[in-house]
This record gives sequence, C-alpha cells and structure tokens, in this order.
Amino acid sequence: MTRLGVNIDHVATLRQARGVKYPDPVAAAALVEMAGADGIVVHLREDRRHIQDRDVHILRETVKTKLNLEMAATPEMVKIALEAKPHMVTLVPEKREELTTEGGLNVGGNKGTLTKTIAQLKGNGITLSLFIDPNGQQIEASKEVGADFVELHTGCYCDATTRDEEDKEYKNLLDAVSIAYELDLGINAGHGLNYFNVKRIAEIKEIEELSIGHSIVARAVLVGLDRAVRDMIELIK
Ligand code: PXP
Repeated sequence: MTRLGVNIDHVATLRQARGVKYPDPVAAAALVEMAGADGIVVHLREDRRHIQDRDVHILRETVKTKLNLEMAATPEMVKIALEAKPHMVTLVPEKREELTTEGGLNVGGNKGTLTKTIAQLKGNGITLSLFIDPNGQQIEASKEVGADFVELHTGCYCDATTRDEEDKEYKNLLDAVSIAYELDLGINAGHGLNYFNVKRIAEIKEIEELSIGHSIVARAVLVGLDRAVRDMIELIK
C-alpha cells in the first residue's frame, strides 16, 4: 500500500506570519501521526521562511514514524542534517525567490558535489533521496551519484489543464517509474498532489510513498474552522 508522508511546512508558515509560538509544527506532527500518516516531511529552507532549525531538532526527538528532511545540498544544511540525523534526506533545488520548489534537481550537471554530499549523509546512516523531474537521464544520474531513492516531481501532472495533457504527463511518470524500478531505486513522488488528482498516482504500485503538504494543511484549515469558532464562542459566552 502506498505510504503517506505529510509535509507540515505550512503549519510553520502560519506561525511565522505572526512571529509567535503557535501553531507549532511539532504538535501538528503528533496529530498527523495519530491520524495514521507514515511519516513527517519538513523543508528547512535557506531563508527559514517556515520551518526553523529548532523544529528539525525537536521533531527528530518526537517523531515516532519517519522524519524526511528536505534541503538544498549546501554545507550549512549538510551540517544540520548530520547533527539531527533524520531518517531520510531529500535533496531539492532551492531558489530564494520561489514560492515553492519549482523543478527537480539537475543531477547530471552537479554529479561531483552530489556524489560527495550523498556519500557523507549515507555514511551517517541517513537514507538519501533526490527530488527530480520524471526524466530518464535524471534517474540514471541519480543512480550514478549513489541515491537510494528518487522522489518524482508530480507538478506537471498536477498542473495539467486538459485530460490529454494529464494523460501525457501521467504516461511520462509511468515511464520514469519503470526506469527507476529497473535501476533498483526506491521511488517516492510528490508536489501539487491534492484530493482530486492523487488517485491515479496512488495506483502506481512501484511508488512507495507520496509526499503531500499544501492540500492537507489547506483542508485542515477548512474542516477545522467550524470547531475553532464554536470553541471561541463558548469561551466568550
Ligand atoms: N516534495 C517536495 C520535494 C517538495 O518540495 C514539496 C513542497 O514542499 C512537496 C513534495 C509537497 O508539495 P505540496 O505542498 O504541493 O503537497
């Protein structure tokens, strides 16, 4: 059965919007696990716009399932990962001005740095995944640099505006899955998955885990609003 890793970055986004202590992603992670998720995913960005160093270190202590740390392959992030020792590190490209991770890593163009970084992290017991576009060359390069897993970028499939376009992107993902499977790489997938587009992706049995954030946190705000308002009315009365 496909596993679910829940990305809780946007719980931290809400906290950072006010510069207060809540909502705490650590508390959110506990609820996510109690609801049955298989793992917690956080992206520690260079600009610290949502998840903070403190979150990563506490989550490492409190997460009972698996902690997957998304990060750029920079010396600063590698140092933090080696201290925190999450179960998995997913290396992602990062641009300061982007709203969210825009594309997959250019593995072929950064083989030297990636091989070194991956060896260092794996040498410390961390499972290594690379976030890449569903593209054969990137998958082969991921194998060459020593990755254990690839996380296939589902953004183009999710952004498709017509059924034909969606089918084309889906086929592209299926081809990528076959290549990664043949190379004996573990396969995760994510980005942009929501309650409407997830089913077809979950049907691909070679994909071990889906990493989903924005749509889950967005739904939590809406389904939780009724209760939150009632609780406040009760206090005011
Ligand atoms: N996978 C990676 C590598 C990501 O950067 C993100 C976004 O932080 C996700 C998955 C989750 O994407 P979404 O928030 O659209 O579900």
